[in-house]
Amino acid sequence: MLGYTYLLAACLLGATLIGVRALDNGVARLPVMGYTSYEYRCNVTQDLVRMNAEQVVSLGLKDLGYNYINLDACYAESNRSATGQIVAGEHPSRFAFGMPVLTAEIHGLGLKAGMYGSSGWFSCGGDEPGSFQNEVNDVRHWQLDWGFDFVKIVDCGVPFDDIIREGILGKYQRMADAIAQVAQESGRDPLVLSVSSGGDQFPYLWASRLGHSWRIGKNVDPSWSSIADAINTNSFISWASDYYGHNDMDYLQIGQGGLTFEEEKTHFTAWAFLKSPLIINTDLSKISKQDLSILMNDEIIAVNQDPVVGKAVTPFRWGSDPNYWTSDPARPAQYWSGETQNGTVFMLINTFDAPATMFFNLTESPYIRAGRQYSVRDLWAHADVGVAVHNWTVPAVPSHGVVALLLQDAGDEPNGEGPPCARQANQCVSESGTPAA
Ligand SMILES: *[C@@H]1O[C@H](CO)[C@@H](O)[C@H](O)[C@H]1NC(C)=O
Ligand SMILES: *[C@@H]1O[C@H](CO)[C@@H](O)[C@H](O)[C@H]1NC(C)=O
Ligand SMILES: *[C@@H]1O[C@H](CO)[C@@H](O)[C@H](O)[C@H]1NC(C)=O
Ligand SMILES: *[C@@H]1O[C@H](CO)[C@@H](O)[C@H](O)[C@H]1NC(C)=O
Ligand SMILES: *[C@@H]1O[C@H](CO)[C@@H](O)[C@H](O)[C@H]1NC(C)=O
Repeated sequence: MLGYTYLLAACLLGATLIGVRALDNGVARLPVMGYTSYEYRCNVTQDLVRMNAEQVVSLGLKDLGYNYINLDACYAESNRSATGQIVAGEHPSRFAFGMPVLTAEIHGLGLKAGMYGSSGWFSCGGDEPGSFQNEVNDVRHWQLDWGFDFVKIVDCGVPFDDIIREGILGKYQRMADAIAQVAQESGRDPLVLSVSSGGDQFPYLWASRLGHSWRIGKNVDPSWSSIADAINTNSFISWASDYYGHNDMDYLQIGQGGLTFEEEKTHFTAWAFLKSPLIINTDLSKISKQDLSILMNDEIIAVNQDPVVGKAVTPFRWGSDPNYWTSDPARPAQYWSGETQNGTVFMLINTFDAPATMFFNLTESPYIRAGRQYSVRDLWAHADVGVAVHNWTVPAVPSHGVVALLLQDAGDEPNGEGPPCARQANQCVSESGTPAA
């Protein structure tokens, strides 16, 4: 018995050590939501950032949880100051008022402010100095002098091996250690760290120790092939997202053109249900009402921001391919489910180029109880659409469209309806061992 207990303890310890352990440092338990000025590239100005921050408030996005206003590249001079600091662009049309003024304005709107930096010698476009060997100094500057709350760190301008003598984990560890050190020195909450290293080095395995999120896969663009590719990639690693740690599927492409309304709904549902950060990347003074209605679907956002369930949805059937775990960038998994505080959500994606009828048996999802019926809420129609017994069918799902359903237990199913075994008939037997007919 002692041996068994010892073995069990060893197993539990082992599981703790090798499992994906998110960084619980008190900030960013839920996926970050907000706005990025990335779309302006090097045309970004302080006024544009301020204008979008004001729109986040006046359009009601802030009330739905979009509360970070993040900068991307091109905010800085390419050289440090004489005292070794990163300098915000001085050109009168860029950041002439200075970062402390900008962050004060953002904070004045009840929002948080996001910075951008690089873990190497330079940022990706070479527009700003990177933080290699300046990590603590730069984190102090961003957080204490400038007032930022968040930082996205890219993996560009990597120093030569004989200088860095670190791999990608070691390089980002320097940033994460600097963030922890400055938090300790200042008594402030640590900067929220968004790791943006590309998807080729399994960032969910190592970046989960360091930051709130890690970019997965290629940069996404506003085309269906790009969105489908990202969904395919993330279908295999959705297990890696949980509280304090999230697969980052890249900025939202809604309002960028290039996607149909149905494709935009699929994009938003997938990002939300996979617990990705939700960062708007579109000029909010020009966004259409229809695009806004997608970004403002409170029932979809609620799943992303669930305070009780941190895990993402996972596929239960690939649909277009009879084999499970088939990687196909053009045709990702079609049938997904996951738990929420209110019940089981289902996400059905029609990956085909024509409308399709989509069908699932309820117990294909592991979260459904056999022998029970479920009320069905359509999270895009914002309507209760019936009671499901055994299975559910959605006719005419548009090409590249999505169905998002919330199923809530509605008691035992009616007697005598359907087969006695929700799984394959030969998997159920009576108490005496007789299989179902
Ligand atoms: C930046 O401004 C120039 C000049 O107005 C314009 O041609 C270019 O398309 C802009 N770039 C972006 C990314 O907005
Ligand atoms: C920036 O630094 C580089 C290298 O030290 C130097 O060659 C260049 O002249 C500097 N640029 C400016 C605008 O000061
Ligand atoms: C669960 O239902 C409550 C009450 O309607 C709602 O406020 C909350 O956002 C829902 N949570 C999810 C994850 O849908
Ligand atoms: C759904 O259930 C029916 C009846 O139990 C079964 O014949 C069918 O193969 C199932 N379909 C799927 C996709 O599981
Ligand atoms: C779906 O479930 C109903 C019972 O509610 C059953 O009559 C029907 O045969 C099922 N359909 C399929 C395709 O399994």
